[in-house]
Amino acid sequence: MCGIVGYTGCSSAQSPLLEGLKRLEYRGYDSAGMSVLGKDGILHTLKAVGKVRKLEELASQTPLEGACGIAHTRWATHGAPSEKNAHPHLDGASRIAVVHNGIIENYRDLRAELEAEGETFRSDTDSEVLPRLIAKYYSDDPVRAVEEALQRVRGTFGVCVLFQDHPGLLIAARSGSPVILGIGKGFNMVASDVCALLANSRDVIYLNDGDLAVVTPEDAEIRTLANVPVNREISRIPKEETGSGKGKYEHFMLKEIFEQPESIGNTIRGRIIPEDGNAKLSGLNLSPRELAEISRIVIAGCGSSLHSGLIGEYYFEEIAGIPAEVEQAAEFRYRNPIIEPNTLVIPISQSGETADTLAATREAMQKGATVAAISNVVGSTIARECGRGIYLHAGPEISVASTKAFTCQVTALWLLALRLGRNRRLSNELGRQSCAELQRLPELIQRVLNQYDHVAALAKKFSGMNDFFFIGRGFLYPVALEGALKLKEVSYVHAEGYHAAELKHGPISLLGENVPVIALANCIPGQEKLLGNMQECRARKSPVIAVATEGDPSVEAFTEDIIRVPETSRYAAPLVTVVALQMFAYCFAGERGCEIDQPRNLAKSVTVE
Ligand code: F6R
Repeated sequence: MCGIVGYTGCSSAQSPLLEGLKRLEYRGYDSAGMSVLGKDGILHTLKAVGKVRKLEELASQTPLEGACGIAHTRWATHGAPSEKNAHPHLDGASRIAVVHNGIIENYRDLRAELEAEGETFRSDTDSEVLPRLIAKYYSDDPVRAVEEALQRVRGTFGVCVLFQDHPGLLIAARSGSPVILGIGKGFNMVASDVCALLANSRDVIYLNDGDLAVVTPEDAEIRTLANVPVNREISRIPKEETGSGKGKYEHFMLKEIFEQPESIGNTIRGRIIPEDGNAKLSGLNLSPRELAEISRIVIAGCGSSLHSGLIGEYYFEEIAGIPAEVEQAAEFRYRNPIIEPNTLVIPISQSGETADTLAATREAMQKGATVAAISNVVGSTIARECGRGIYLHAGPEISVASTKAFTCQVTALWLLALRLGRNRRLSNELGRQSCAELQRLPELIQRVLNQYDHVAALAKKFSGMNDFFFIGRGFLYPVALEGALKLKEVSYVHAEGYHAAELKHGPISLLGENVPVIALANCIPGQEKLLGNMQECRARKSPVIAVATEGDPSVEAFTEDIIRVPETSRYAAPLVTVVALQMFAYCFAGERGCEIDQPRNLAKSVTVE
């Protein structure tokens, strides 16, 4: 979604700003812009619809010379993607520039008030009220003006403000939308995502909600919006979290698919105690007694993280014997969920910034639940606010379509179920079996990846089709949902995931020779029933692509289009199966010439509800 970068130093601001924007591209956006305080003492602004590349071209024709500036990538919410709606937005006199992430819920009222006072707005955005409000409260104290303006705002914001009259000064603030400071030698930076800082600094400060930072090249002073000074620690981002390029791969999605043996290895590293048949999850920070007291689990997430949660539900019930349910994070707080004292709530979020999952986290905490997050991004808001949980250590996930984070989430859920199970009635023997299989996951996943050429050929064969069904049962039902989500995200074809038995209750009317069904037939138990469901699809002339266990001939009666995966327990089956579907989606999108890493309309981290 929208991205913020700010730079104040003694060398040119333009290049760190553009570099930061490029590093934010993966989040999804539709326009970009940048304001720099020029050597002539005037704010200069460039904006472009489309890629950062276009802004860069403009900047190479008309360089913005100056050592202090702000930049933004916009993902349209209020007003179409256009130059006038792109950030930075300026006040009427063009002396104050603002970049904003989030949504100003009362912008209509504020805009009407400002218009009544004579302001003429240039854009259709909610964000433009900010520079105009700041201007309204500004006489000579920029910090006070920003504070006063933000006190009028309802909604969410991460902002960075640049004043023409105050060279070298950036004012940043957050409420519900991340803001991070990058601390350098002779310069400081502001960003909405740590990625945008890493080319220049690995020392960062995460602002909390309600913080305001006064940033100059030498200093970063933090206070609350109510003007109380606060101390926030500097964190050093480990080298391995800084990510690298695409390497030998054409797309980040492909790189991340192929990284899965390693990323899953990182999720389990140091967390398995084979001799005890147990897992060690120190980030949970819960004593054996506290773990034993958990009587119910509620999982909340969105998109792929919701799907991994659905697999987690099976793990918790089967392995740990604890009743579990999964909630769409977007519904969680509006449904007023019942949270009992011994309920463990698990928000799952790769980014740790998804607005709905964050809202669910806060709701659960406020209701007194024990809340432990599963997140990939170290220091993300959800992870910090929970203060306990499991980091995936999957490394940065850049492709908008989640792949390695999904499989690491599933792995983390399995580890947690094992930990909880061994705290209860799960035997040492069964615990050891889980440990052994968890340790084999990298090898099992690699065997699926070795099928890449075959999957690519299948994707080519079916690349003319525009409607797909994915069906599965048991542990593979959520994988059917995830496989369909992957396909529609990156290739823009219609794809639906269904429980195999549900097909008969309506959607079967849509089957036919142009509607292939991808059947996840490596499920144990339930395989016989799934073979029956495949038969039903064939009877309606739908072509079937089967995912089946190596050496299992039973699917051959229905189709010759088979993707083979290694034989596993039902616990590992979702992991090997989803990797096959990720490859299929990637290859299919490639055949159709789609923009794979940044699919249209999508954002990597959805920070608005
Ligand atoms: C799908 C995808 C999205 C995310 C969802 C939640 O490939 O990436 O569906 O899973 O937006 O994001 P996080 O996990 O960051 O909360």
